[in-house]
This record gives sequence, structure tokens and C-alpha cells, in this order.
Amino acid sequence: MWTLIVATLLIGAIVFGAWWLRQAADHSQTEFQNTADSRSTSKSPPSFVGTTSCRSCHAEISDLYSTSGHAHTFHATKDSDFAKGLNGVTFEDPLRKDQFRYHFDSEGLATSLPAKFGDELFPLSYALGSGTHGVTFLTLLPHRDGSTIGLEHRVTHYAQKSGLDLTVGHAYLGEPVEDAEHFGRVLSSRKLTQCIECHTTSGRVENGDIRELIPHVGCESCHGAASHHVEIRTSGEEDADFSTAKSWPDAMSELRTCGRCHRLPESIKKSELVRESKILPRFQPAGLMQSPCFQKSEGAMRCTTCHDPHEKVSKDTTRYERLCMDCHQTQTVAACPKSSNNCIECHMPPISLEGVASFHDHWIRIRNEKDPSVLQPEIDLEE
Ligand code: HEC
Ligand code: HEC
Ligand code: HEC
Ligand code: HEC
Ligand code: HEC
Ligand code: HEC
Ligand code: HEC
Repeated sequence: MWTLIVATLLIGAIVFGAWWLRQAADHSQTEFQNTADSRSTSKSPPSFVGTTSCRSCHAEISDLYSTSGHAHTFHATKDSDFAKGLNGVTFEDPLRKDQFRYHFDSEGLATSLPAKFGDELFPLSYALGSGTHGVTFLTLLPHRDGSTIGLEHRVTHYAQKSGLDLTVGHAYLGEPVEDAEHFGRVLSSRKLTQCIECHTTSGRVENGDIRELIPHVGCESCHGAASHHVEIRTSGEEDADFSTAKSWPDAMSELRTCGRCHRLPESIKKSELVRESKILPRFQPAGLMQSPCFQKSEGAMRCTTCHDPHEKVSKDTTRYERLCMDCHQTQTVAACPKSSNNCIECHMPPISLEGVASFHDHWIRIRNEKDPSVLQPEIDLEE
């Protein structure tokens, strides 16, 4: 049995809330699918049916997709191998000098701060991120005003470190006021909702729970709700409406699909849309759109020029170089006076974020001394 942190002003009903949460994690996709499937879809707008319903007809893409980062952005910790691997592990907070101790069982992951709260456990319900860069834990908490807020755990598992470190940005937080803040950053309802919108296909926060949860960035995150498509194709008819050519007739419509989560220029402060920006390299669509490659190629460059959206991101640099050369070997586009290989190293270098992860700068350009060589976390403490 779990004992839970009780005494906090902020989170009045935590015992009940956390217990309830665990029930919520059992909300299975099948349950939701059934309701979606049984609904008459001929007149109503299409609903989400979940990634598992695509496999019967799109096996090849589905298998490829299952290995991609998108397929693993939102696990309940009880289903997460990363969470499981933390059982018994401890982590010393380098700033607050606290020691976190992790505990895993069939209900999921939890943590304690023995020096402050004895062996009371704080639940860590969801694991965000596939682990390619990192995995951060998230807990839903009932607020005393009746709304649901979130808590982003102070500690993250980073692939680059093969272990735990402070969650990016948390080094800048002040001293905890409420008990819960010892365990991480409190997220307003709005922030919590955004977090879930970008890491799941569908899900609605309600009463400390996520209703109609379809976890991960699924097929329908990009292709849209597909109940009509499944119904039409199951009956053997053509479905002209569900065509990728129709969804993405040009580069901008594709960039907007990816940019909803990876971020567009309009979701970034104007003052950060400059060559020396230290956060832009994290936001590939916004970065790419500043590049002459995008601006002067008349719509020929989009994310899928270089990425298969169904696949784990390729690490094969010669493959990317060939793509650069598709344009840069022609008469009309300039070639490099410096080198005929290693394009990525000089024109799209990886930029390090607090030494725990790195991101390739998608603002493809001739770099100079003003260009960022390190990334700063997006410190967004405003609520
Ligand atoms: C009953 C079989 C069936 C199911 C289930 C199904 N599809 Fe399809 N889908 C087809 C067929 C057949 C086509 C047309 C041929 C093709 O492109 O593979 C198609 C085409 C598509 C296309 C358009 C491809 C293009 O040419 O532009 C997309 C996108 C797509 N499906 C996505 C999905 C997604 C996402 C799901 C799950 C939510 C799904 N499909 C479920 C049979 C199915
Ligand atoms: C609903 C939000 C969402 C949308 C839409 C989205 N992404 Fe992502 N993407 C994510 C998240 C979250 C991750 C982090 C996955 C992880 O933790 O590895 C990610 C990761 C990636 C990665 C790295 C994956 C890997 O396996 O290492 C690539 C490449 C990528 N996205 C490309 C795209 C492209 C291209 C599009 C548009 C066609 C797109 N994404 C649309 C949320 C989204
Ligand atoms: C606007 C959409 C958006 C929001 C909001 C968002 N994420 Fe993400 N998240 C992404 C995308 C896109 C990626 C992939 C980043 C990449 O690989 O470039 C990502 C990646 C991650 C990763 C993998 C490690 C990394 O840095 O790449 C973790 C962990 C993560 N997000 C946690 C969270 C948490 C926790 C929240 C809420 C506090 C949150 N995210 C809110 C879009 C979002
Ligand atoms: C990150 C966004 C994203 C996700 C997730 C995604 N797709 Fe796609 N899909 C695209 C884009 C963009 C295209 C068109 C560009 C292309 O063909 O590369 C596409 C093309 C397709 C096509 C037609 C082209 C082809 O390769 O046959 C089908 C069918 C399809 N997707 C089905 C699926 C299914 C099924 C899933 C889930 C298992 C899925 N997609 C997940 C973005 C996505
Ligand atoms: C879709 C075609 C296309 C692709 C693919 C492409 N580029 Fe470009 N690139 C262009 C065009 C067009 C220009 C502008 C040329 C001009 O101004 O004459 C450009 C300009 C550049 C510049 C000069 C930028 C500056 O700051 O002035 C560099 C560097 C560059 N590309 C590198 C690359 C690299 C590296 C890749 C592969 C990762 C790549 N490009 C892929 C079309 C492309
Ligand atoms: C000109 C080629 C090119 C285009 C176009 C491109 N990418 Fe990339 N992308 C790369 C390369 C190269 C990497 C680094 C791969 C590696 O890890 O070796 C990368 C890596 C990524 C990653 C993994 C995290 C990182 O930054 O290292 C994400 C996420 C991503 N791209 C998203 C996008 C999105 C979204 C778009 C469209 C706005 C896009 N990319 C367009 C070449 C491209
Ligand atoms: C060792 C670093 C390095 C590598 C590797 C490299 N470049 Fe460059 N590139 C540069 C520098 C520096 C410049 C600016 C040269 C100048 O202004 O004299 C440049 C300029 C360019 C330009 C602009 C040319 C013009 O006249 O406007 C393009 C396009 C370009 N590179 C593409 C590429 C491509 C494609 C590759 C891979 C085949 C590549 N570069 C590999 C460093 C590099």
C-alpha cells in the first residue's frame, strides 16, 4: 500500500486524487474505440479511433511507426520500462541537496524525499518522451479550487547521461513554498492541457483524470480523426477525402501540421526569431522557415523532404547529404565553396541544451560567430 503526501495547501484532496488517477490509467483504448465505432458516423464529424485500428490495412506503416519517437510520447508509468528501471534508484538534488528515492510497483512509479517527508510516497503517473532524448514524469493533481493542475517532476531521465538529472529549466526555480513543489514544478490547468495536447492523440482533462485518452502522437495526430475513413474503407468504398495530397497540398500546410507541436514562428516570441536565438534550434519548423533553403526553393522544402514521418529519425548523415545535393548540385542553386561532404556538421550542427540533450539547428545557413552554440531552456514561468 502507498502512503501519500497529504499536508499541502495547494492540493487539498491529494489522497483521493492520486488514488483516482490510478484508476484513470486503466482507461483502455479499446473502451474508447468501442464508443467511437458504434457511433453513426455518416453525418456527425469524424471521431478518433486510435492507432491500433489502422494496422489491419496499413501494416507496413504501422510497424515502422511503432519504433518511432511519436509512438512513445505518453506512457502511464506502470507501463513504462524507464519507470520500472528506476525502482530502488536514488538521486541527489545538486541544488537543494535533497535525496529522491524511487519506488515502482504495479500501480506505477512514485518517489519519496526521506529527509523531508519520511517514507511518504508522491505518485509519478505519466512518463512523457520516448527516451530518445529524455523521459519526464507528470502527475495530475486536484487543485483546491476544483480544477486539475499538473506537476512536472524535478528529475528527468536523459539518454545522453544514461541516467537522472534535474529537469531542464528546474535549476532556475525558486525555493519550494508548497509541499508539492519539493517534487517539481506546478503547472496551471492551461499548461497541463498543452502538455497533454502535444504528447497525445486525444484526451480531455476532467476532474483529475484524462478522459478519452489516446496516448502518444498517433496516426490521427497528423492525419486527423479517422472514423469515417475506417468505416468507408471497411465497406470497400473509395475515400477521396482522406488523401494526403488533399491534407498537404503544399509545404506550408505540412509545416503547420508538424508546427502545431514542433512550433511555428507565431508560437515564438518575435525577439527570438533572430539568428542568435538560443531557443530557436529546438523548434524545427520555426527555424527551417528562416533558412534561405526554405525561403528560396519555391515550396520544394518541407519536413518530409528529409524525414519519413512514420519512421524513427535517421542518423545516417550521408543520406541527408544526398538530400542537400539534390538541390545544391544543380546549376540554379549555389554549391559549397568549402566542402563536398559533412554538410550537417557545419550547416545544421547539434546544439547542446544544459549538457543533457542536443538538437540540430534547422535554420540551415552559413554560420558565423553570432550563431548559437548552446541552447537555453525555454524558461516559461508565467502563468
Ligand atoms: C479497412 C481498411 C483500412 C483501415 C482500417 C484504414 N485504412 Fe487507410 N486506407 C485504406 C485504403 C485501401 C487506402 C487507399 C490505398 C492506400 O493508400 O493504401 C487508404 C488510404 C489511407 C490514406 C491516404 C493515403 C493517400 O494516398 O494519400 C491515409 C492517410 C490513411 N489511409 C490513413 C489511415 C489511418 C490513420 C487509419 C487508422 C485510423 C486507417 N487509414 C485505417 C484502408 C484502410
Ligand atoms: C501532436 C504533436 C506532434 C505532431 C503533430 C508532430 N510531432 Fe513530431 N514529435 C512530437 C513529440 C512529442 C516528439 C518527441 C518524441 C520523443 O520523445 O522521442 C516528436 C518527435 C519527432 C521527431 C524525432 C523522432 C525520433 O524518433 O527521434 C521527428 C523527426 C519529428 N517529431 C518529426 C515530425 C514531423 C515531420 C511532423 C509533421 C509531419 C511531426 N513531427 C508532427 C510531437 C508531434
Ligand atoms: C507545443 C507542444 C508541446 C508542449 C506544450 C509540450 N511538449 Fe514536450 N515535446 C514536444 C515536441 C515537439 C517534442 C520533441 C522535441 C524534439 O525532439 O525536437 C517534445 C519532447 C518532449 C520530451 C522528450 C525530451 C526532449 O526534450 O526532447 C519530454 C520529456 C517532454 N517533451 C515533456 C513535456 C512535458 C512534461 C510537457 C508539459 C510540461 C511538455 N513536454 C509540453 C512538444 C510539446
Ligand atoms: C508525424 C505525422 C504523421 C504520423 C504520426 C503518421 N503519418 Fe502518415 N503521413 C504523414 C505525412 C506527412 C504523409 C505524406 C508524406 C509522405 O508520404 O511521406 C503521410 C502519408 C501516409 C500515407 C500515404 C503514403 C504512404 O506512405 O503510403 C498513409 C497510408 C499513412 N500516412 C498512414 C499512416 C498511419 C497508418 C499512421 C499510424 C500508424 C500514420 N500514417 C502516422 C504524416 C504522419
Ligand atoms: C529544396 C532544395 C534545397 C535543399 C534540399 C537544400 N537546400 Fe540549401 N538552399 C537552397 C536554396 C534555393 C538556397 C538559396 C540559394 C541562393 O540564395 O542562391 C539555399 C541556400 C543554402 C545555404 C546558404 C545559406 C546562407 O546563409 O546564405 C546553405 C549553407 C545551404 N543552402 C545548405 C544546405 C544544406 C547543408 C542542405 C542539406 C542539409 C541543404 N542546403 C538542402 C535549396 C535547398
Ligand atoms: C534538409 C533536411 C531536413 C529538413 C527539411 C528537416 N530536418 Fe529535421 N533533421 C535533419 C537532420 C540532419 C537531423 C539530425 C539527425 C541526427 O540525429 O543525426 C534532424 C533531426 C530532427 C529532429 C530530432 C531532434 C533534433 O533536432 O536533432 C526533429 C524532431 C526534427 N528533425 C524535426 C523536423 C521537422 C518538424 C521538420 C520540418 C519543419 C524538419 N525536421 C525538417 C534534417 C532535416
Ligand atoms: C567545414 C565546414 C563546411 C562543410 C563541411 C560544408 N560547408 Fe558549406 N559552407 C561553409 C562555409 C564556411 C561557407 C561560407 C563560405 C564563404 O562565404 O566563403 C559555406 C557556404 C555554403 C553555401 C553557400 C554558397 C554560396 O555561394 O552562397 C552552400 C549552398 C553550402 N555551403 C552548402 C553546403 C553543402 C550542401 C555541404 C555538404 C555537401 C556543405 N556546405 C559542407 C562551411 C562548410
